[in-house]
Amino acid sequence: MKLEIRDLEVSFAGRPVASVAELDVDAGEIVGLAGESGSGKSMTILAVLGLAGTAGAAVTGSIRLDGQQLIGMSGAGLRAIRGRRIAAIFQSPALAFNPVYRVGRIVTRTLRLHGLSAAEARERADAAMRSVLLTPDLLHRYPSQLSGGQLQRVAIALALALRAEVLLADEPTSALDVTVQAEVLELLRELRDDRGMAILFVSHDLAVIAELCDRVAVMRAGQVLETGPVGQVTVAPRHEYTRELLAAVPRLEVRP
Ligand SMILES: Nc1ncnc2c1ncn2[C@@H]1O[C@H](COP(=O)(O)OP(=O)(O)OP(=O)(O)O)[C@@H](O)[C@H]1O
Ligand SMILES: [Mg+2]
Repeated sequence: MKLEIRDLEVSFAGRPVASVAELDVDAGEIVGLAGESGSGKSMTILAVLGLAGTAGAAVTGSIRLDGQQLIGMSGAGLRAIRGRRIAAIFQSPALAFNPVYRVGRIVTRTLRLHGLSAAEARERADAAMRSVLLTPDLLHRYPSQLSGGQLQRVAIALALALRAEVLLADEPTSALDVTVQAEVLELLRELRDDRGMAILFVSHDLAVIAELCDRVAVMRAGQVLETGPVGQVTVAPRHEYTRELLAAVPRLEVRP
């Protein structure tokens, strides 16, 4: 499995907000997308999901999943890939779950939409909950009856249950407290190492990216400034802006 982005440009009314010349995410790796607020990270994620157009943006260039071009694909084609092969988690898991349904119903309905029988959907939902270290009875609760960390785990469980190959994670831990954040990051490492998932992980926090990711792309003002192995970019950044981002992260300096 390989996700290949080439010459991607997302723009609003002719104004480019995210230009990504080249970015690959392979099976079994976590690629970080770093950069300050407004640098174009979320628009890049939305473009990969095929949802940038819904937000009113124009998208050009190439996004291939195992060679298959996603830009310009029909709505039906995209719906079959989104969720099924490419899953996404966001900063506020509460917004991803309709508050009027029990969590289990949301999960099993999504699985059924992707072709599973009712029995298969229930079985997979339970197994996925256990994989993210939650008890399946939490599926009987409403979203408001779960903590932010638990809901983020359920969102990850849904990606697992769908057997997604690519996980797009847009600031998935920014709204969580530090301990819960560490647990979710550990879960993402397991998805990479044990399931070979390809993960594109967005964060403005280079310390988190340095801990978690294999490679990183640094964005500013809609442009990718530099890309490379995370050790190289965080130890010997080529760009002044990356140095500034690193300087804003005191935690990195005390780590051996
Ligand atoms: N609907 C829209 N119409 C016009 N411009 C938009 C729209 N949505 C986003 N933008 C612009 O696109 C640019 C990139 O936004 P994006 O959400 O990708 O930033 P980001 O890097 O994810 O920031 P943050 O860290 O705050 O989440 C910003 O300048 C933003 O103002
Ligand atoms: Mg964003």
